[in-house]
Amino acid sequence: MHEHDRAARPAHETFEGPGATAIRDERRERWEARYRGADRLWSLEPNPVLARVAAELEPGRALDLACGEGADAIWLASQGWRSVGVDFAETAIARARAKAAEHGVGERCEFVAADLAAWRPEAGAFDLAAVHYFHAAEGFGTLGLLAEVLPPAVAPGGTLLVVGHSAFPSWSGPARAGVTLPGPEETLESLELEAGEWAVVECGLEPRTVASPEGVVEPRPDVVVRVRRR
Ligand SMILES: C[S@@+](CC[C@H](N)C(=O)[O-])C[C@H]1O[C@@H](n2cnc3c(N)ncnc32)[C@H](O)[C@@H]1O
Repeated sequence: MHEHDRAARPAHETFEGPGATAIRDERRERWEARYRGADRLWSLEPNPVLARVAAELEPGRALDLACGEGADAIWLASQGWRSVGVDFAETAIARARAKAAEHGVGERCEFVAADLAAWRPEAGAFDLAAVHYFHAAEGFGTLGLLAEVLPPAVAPGGTLLVVGHSAFPSWSGPARAGVTLPGPEETLESLELEAGEWAVVECGLEPRTVASPEGVVEPRPDVVVRVRRR
């Protein structure tokens, strides 16, 4: 990605430029409202891809971007990692802190309420830097953010993991019908990884099924991109 490409992205994609602050505030408010509207939005189970990948790694320091209510960061801490979770929804972060304490891993988890458009991790500090359902959740426009935040966070020898939705569910309504989400290759390219510095371990689809509100089960594979810093 060259500077002119980034500049050419519209404000809603770059989180920069005229109107971007208002768009970010509106998105944060929308997420806040979703979290406030339910006792709990997401399960406490770890993401299955994360669990599979982490099982192959030595526990170290982990970063979970857009961590929601903290299930993945809390699970990592329970497996011996020290984890940092970041999300701009303060209600979600408050729940994550409370759950971590309840599970006895409060000391091993740090939760930060911050917008990824502005927050930056400690460079090269994480043995695992992950994000689950962030770019697809926002539709488009968050891929550029991943490139800015994730790769610089990863320590030499560390793993970068992106798990995303490959498509919207069939019941998600006309506004999303036919909308294409970034596939594995596009997701990998969007990370703008420096040539020679990274080894691609996985770039593909992981089978997954989801149930509609009426209980109809349909396939909805996840996009999985896993790379290791050399
Ligand atoms: C679909 S949820 C995924 C939550 C969690 N990763 C999981 O897998 O359950 C997307 C999350 O991204 C967060 N988010 C969206 N845009 C963000 C931003 N610019 N900065 C920080 N968090 C953001 C939302 O608050 C929400 O918690």
